[in-house]
Order: sequence, then C-alpha cells, then structure tokens
Amino acid sequence: MATKREPIHGQWSGRLAFILAATGSAVGLGNIWKFPYIAGENGGGAFVLIYLLCIAVIGIPIMMAEVMLGRRGRRSPINTMRHLAGEENASPHWQWLGWAGVLAGFLILSYYSVIAGWALAYVFRAGSGLFTGLTADGVQSIFSNLVSEPERLLAWHTLFMVMTMIVVARGVRSGLEKAVRLLMPALFVLLVILVGYAWNSGSFEQGVAFLFQPDFSKITADGVLIAMGHAFFTLSLGMGAIMVYGSYLPDRISIAKTSIAVSLMDTLVALMAGMAIFPIVFANGLEPGAGPGLIFQTLPIAFGHMPYGAFFGMLFFVLLVFAAWSSAISLIEPAVAWLVENRSMTRVNASVLAGIATWSFGLLTVFSFNIWSGFKPLADKTLFDLLDYLTANIMLPLGGLLIALFAAWKMSRESSVDELAMGERFWYPLWRILVRYITPIGVTIVFLHAIGII
Ligand code: TRP
Repeated sequence: MATKREPIHGQWSGRLAFILAATGSAVGLGNIWKFPYIAGENGGGAFVLIYLLCIAVIGIPIMMAEVMLGRRGRRSPINTMRHLAGEENASPHWQWLGWAGVLAGFLILSYYSVIAGWALAYVFRAGSGLFTGLTADGVQSIFSNLVSEPERLLAWHTLFMVMTMIVVARGVRSGLEKAVRLLMPALFVLLVILVGYAWNSGSFEQGVAFLFQPDFSKITADGVLIAMGHAFFTLSLGMGAIMVYGSYLPDRISIAKTSIAVSLMDTLVALMAGMAIFPIVFANGLEPGAGPGLIFQTLPIAFGHMPYGAFFGMLFFVLLVFAAWSSAISLIEPAVAWLVENRSMTRVNASVLAGIATWSFGLLTVFSFNIWSGFKPLADKTLFDLLDYLTANIMLPLGGLLIALFAAWKMSRESSVDELAMGERFWYPLWRILVRYITPIGVTIVFLHAIGII
C-alpha cells in the first residue's frame, strides 16, 4: 500500500551528489581528529581491527537500513518514523527514535563545534608560520595556550556555529551539495601528501605496526565499546543524519552500492590519517595516548619541518574545517527539517533557533578544557568526555540498534525488498540476516560486556 512520496525539502541532484553529501557527513573530525587519538589511547592494532570489523558487519548494514527508512519516509526522521510505523502497523512510539536522534545530534554538535573551532584557530597559526622549526615542546605549548583561554575557544566555536547555520539555512542543494564537491577530493590529496611525509619521518614502520599489529592484551571491554561506538560515529549512524540524507535521495538509486562506497571512503580517510600521524608521534617521542589534542600536537611538527610547511599546514587545517563543516550540517539537519515541517518555520528561522541552542550548550565543552577542567562529575571524566562518551558509545549504538530492529522486524519484507531493490537472491538475504540477528546481538553483547555482565 506504500505509495511513492515526494520529499518536502528538495532532493539531491543524483547519485554522485548523495554519495558526496553522505561522505561529507561521514568524513569529519571523527576520522582525522578522533580516530587517531582513541586508537592511541586504546593501544592501537587490536582496537583498529575491532573498529574495522564493526564497520563491516554492523556499520554498512545499518547505514543501508537508515537510508532505506529515510527514502521510504521522505520526511524528517521524527515524522518518517511516525509515518513508517503507521504504514507498517507498528507502535507510534517509534517516533521517539526520531526524537532521541535529534537530541543526540544536538549534544554531539555542541562539542563538535568547539573542536572544529580548534581547527579554525590552527588555520591561522599554521598560515602565519608559527610552527616553523618547532619541536614537540613548542607545539604542545601552542596547543595548551589555545585551550586554556575560554574567550578564544568561545570565539572560534561561535564562528564555526555561524558558518554551519549559514549553510543549513540555504538548504539542501545550494548549500550542502556545492560545498562538498570540491573539498572532499582536496582533503584526500592532502592526506596522501602527509602520509608521504610520514613515510620519510624515520618511524613509518613503527607507526604502521602500532596501527595494524593487533595485540589483544591491550584491549579492554570499554575499548571494544569505544571501537563500536566510533564505527557509528564515523559513519554518522544512529541519530537520523543519514536517514534525513536518505530522504532526499531520488528513487531507483542503489542504496547498497552507495552505502558501501561511502563506508569505504570513510574508512580509507581514517586509516590514512592514522598513517600520517603515528609515524610522527614515534619519530618525535610523543605519547600515542595523548588524548584529544593528539593531532594538534603532532601534525604541526611535520608542517614546521617540511618545505612550504606554512602553506601545506594552512591548507590542511582549512580542509579539516571543511570536513567538519560538511559533517556539522548533517548533525543539525534532522532538527531543522522537523522545525520546518511541524512548526512551519522557514529554514532560516529554524537554523537560527537550532544554532543558538546548540551554541549555548557548547559552552559546557568550552569550559571543560579550562576553568572547569577539574570538574569530573563521573568516572574521572570532564564534561566534554562525558558528552562524547554518552553520545558516541551509548546513544548512537542504541539508536542504531533500534533502527536495525525496525527495519528488519517491523518493516514488512515486501517494503524492504522494494526499497533496497537488490533482488532476492544472495545480497538481500545477507543484509536481512545481518540487521535481524547479527547487528542486534553484536551491539547487545558489546554493551553487556562493557558494563561487566558478560
Ligand atoms: N561522522 C562525522 C565524523 O566522523 C560526525 C557526524 C556527522 C556524526 N553526523 C553525524 C556522528 C551523525 C554521529 C551521527 O566526524
């Protein structure tokens, strides 16, 4: 009984546009800033292997499920879930999944914007030649100076939020699509150059061994949860970002192929970032577990020593800002789409409202690096650490689990066969087994393991 719906907010111009937009969402600070530092904190190789496994068996099938629900619902995630629940005779409570996603996106963006602000600040630091000839100590003190001043962090956070709101306000095609077309390929080329530099740093083998030689004695139950959480985070899954992008996807474009393409590119970028960073870490006697400041304390050393380093450094941080930018817009899009649909707001007003709310909440993260850095209300974690942990390791996997359950158990087989259009032979049954059993069981085991039950 499903009839094809027209999307309210416009559509991507085609397959390439969707791939670029979804890749723009997926590739971001998660790949270049977060992946290296959490891999470093969790001992390297074994962590990376678990992360890759999670991408393959949990991430890709859930991405397909999320795109599928979005395209079938053709609305903001909240309304999509409500409509699909009605259409499939499921409980209207499924719309809460949409609400939880809006909340997760809001929480993530509140800190994401602060970190993107660091990257903005580094554009100017790199461009002015500040890194030239610096040693590890000099680079470290530049970083601590930046994060220890709340006013500065606030200024950069504000600038980044304004940039994000401007693109979101302009809408799907003229805003989001144009920005990613050029930037993603450029970022990729620059990463290749950086890996090339790391190759000659003297410690390339050690860096690569750290990243790819699994030593399972170094991994904890919490490390497994962090690896799984990061698979969701890096692919933008579990909160409706990919769902809302799916709702702008024209019919007849293959969901499986596009999801796989996006996941592969995302993984490649993360691994390249790791290969650029760890050789520099070891060559300079730095600590792989240095935490959230890791890339800001390593890459400037490379830029400070390579020819035309000021130029390449500036270019790198510009592209990092763009990668973060194209991710940030997807974090807020579900909320904005809902405001437009249900509160009849214009995109501009909806963006401003959502932006101000997120910006204000971001103050918690700004202060957690300086005046409140000693405030650790739970598990020895600062407010930033807690926000990151709650969203990436709890909310996203839970959201993803529910998406899988809805797509595989509540939605009728005909609906998913129709929407995924991969025939009924090998690939469709494989996907269905993965989202019906493997994903829910996998996520549940990792959760129970992390809280110490099994
Ligand atoms: N995937 C992005 C990154 O790696 C961040 C991001 C964008 C995201 N949209 C999301 C994370 C939705 C979770 C959910 O930087």
